[in-house]
Amino acid sequence: MGMNIRLDRFLADMGKGSRSEIRQAAKKGRIQVNGKIEKQTDRKIDPDRDQVMLDGKSVQYHTWEYIMLYKPQGVISATEDLHHRTVLDLLDGENRRDLFPVGRLDVDTEGLLLLTNDGELAHRLLSPRKHVDKVYFARVAGQLPKDARERMAAGMMLEDGTPVQPAKLELLKDEEYQNEGEQEIRILLTIQEGKYHQVKRMFEAMGCRVVYLKRLSMGPLVLDETLLPGEYRRLTQEELARLKEGAFQDQKTD
Ligand code: URA
Repeated sequence: MGMNIRLDRFLADMGKGSRSEIRQAAKKGRIQVNGKIEKQTDRKIDPDRDQVMLDGKSVQYHTWEYIMLYKPQGVISATEDLHHRTVLDLLDGENRRDLFPVGRLDVDTEGLLLLTNDGELAHRLLSPRKHVDKVYFARVAGQLPKDARERMAAGMMLEDGTPVQPAKLELLKDEEYQNEGEQEIRILLTIQEGKYHQVKRMFEAMGCRVVYLKRLSMGPLVLDETLLPGEYRRLTQEELARLKEGAFQDQKTD
């Protein structure tokens, strides 16, 4: 990087508070640069060389952030909401103001959600023309038509007449079981679009109801099984490389 930035900007960018909060912290001696207490928050630092600590903890500067979140139910896939907690509220101590979720999961849907500040990658991952597979696990109540797989593979119509692109439906082994007297099946559905409530509406169009929905993957990115709902981690170099490879190949013109 080799670019010098102000100390207060460095810490604010990393979500450590507003500039005035950071100035207060500096006054109290909570900030160190290269092992020495620093009270001048307008001084410049080199993020590649200088070591910055807040309350004794090292703060790393990342220009681009890529975070894999296991979104839990009950949390909104937005950056701000008046009434509910958002996915950004789950990032303890690093509430960077520039992060946003790539696409949306319903409030009652859980699973893989990528958070980033890389708008270009996000745009490409969401473009239907990129054909990025999203795989969902669902529990579905009701009687699935015998030809459900074929209808979904052919590209079906939602109840309001909206057409959706072909999708791949797999019924899982333990196909049917009873849950509180209701017939349920477990399925995997792979779609490449992200229309509003798409998975739920596809099953509704077949007279069924999604009672549980979880996103397992997006392109090459697979939800880390060691994460619990609400937990997150940064993407590995390899995950990021594969994600970019898929998103940036072909169609250089859009
Ligand atoms: N389809 C849905 O119906 N809901 C989601 O959250 C994602 C896909």
